Amino acid sequence: MASDTLRAPARAAEMTAAVDPAAPILLFDSGVGGLTVLDEVRRALPDAPIIYAADTAGLPYGTKTEAQVAARVAGLLGRMTERLRPRLVCIACNTASTIALGMVREVLEVPIVGTVPAIKPAAEMTRTGVIGLLGTEATIRQLYVDRLEQEFAADKRLLRYGAPGLVEAAEAKLRGEPVDPAIIRDAAHALRSQPDGDRIDTVVLACTHFPLVETELAEAFGPEVRFVHGAQGIARQVSRLVAGQEYSRQAADLALFTGQGELPGAYAEQLARYGLLRIERF
Ligand code: DGL
Repeated sequence: MASDTLRAPARAAEMTAAVDPAAPILLFDSGVGGLTVLDEVRRALPDAPIIYAADTAGLPYGTKTEAQVAARVAGLLGRMTERLRPRLVCIACNTASTIALGMVREVLEVPIVGTVPAIKPAAEMTRTGVIGLLGTEATIRQLYVDRLEQEFAADKRLLRYGAPGLVEAAEAKLRGEPVDPAIIRDAAHALRSQPDGDRIDTVVLACTHFPLVETELAEAFGPEVRFVHGAQGIARQVSRLVAGQEYSRQAADLALFTGQGELPGAYAEQLARYGLLRIERF
């Protein structure tokens, strides 16, 4: 017992020393949605080298089957961790996390942080007891979400809507294109028109793309509704797992996109705002 206690700090120091200071934190999403998580991770860990990977060839995940999402995510993260040697992987995507987090954790030997719907903080925030949840079609039907609801919001009413149009709206906005107001209105209407929907005062943005169009959503829902998403909590969890590690950024942070061909120039401009100064295909 006593010798275990004595050994523990030495082992922790050994593990810290074993992490290559140049090893990146890898953030992964189907598209640009995970940039909302990257923002918070950067705020928490400004010196950490980061690689942002978007599976644009697989976008959108939200309209795919569980088997398709699980196969893509597990396959890509396997190849990415092998090639990029990250110190930690953050799956900055609710769809991928609610479907494949457990499975990916079992097969990869690297710490993995997932992104799951922020139902717990929403349940603490709501005054009316009615919470809206906007996610992708795949996310809102996951058992993972049922469990979060049972655990944290059993005494609340949780109204869900899978809004695939919002993913494309967020992607378009990041390319500098206009957001179709009908898509935003439809998402708000789909929640408001459900029984008790008029009493929603808190909306969970359960897709990392959606905070990119929060301003537009706020206009559609009205000033009495507050929005909540998990990005800050995820950044805190990432910080906890890399506590004590050293960083050495050897090149500008990198954005990787799956698929072929030229990427729109607008991406480069926007990605630079997130500190991603190099863009490559994976
Ligand atoms: N950003 C992803 C999420 O958080 C999903 C977008 C997609 O449908 O690919 O769920």
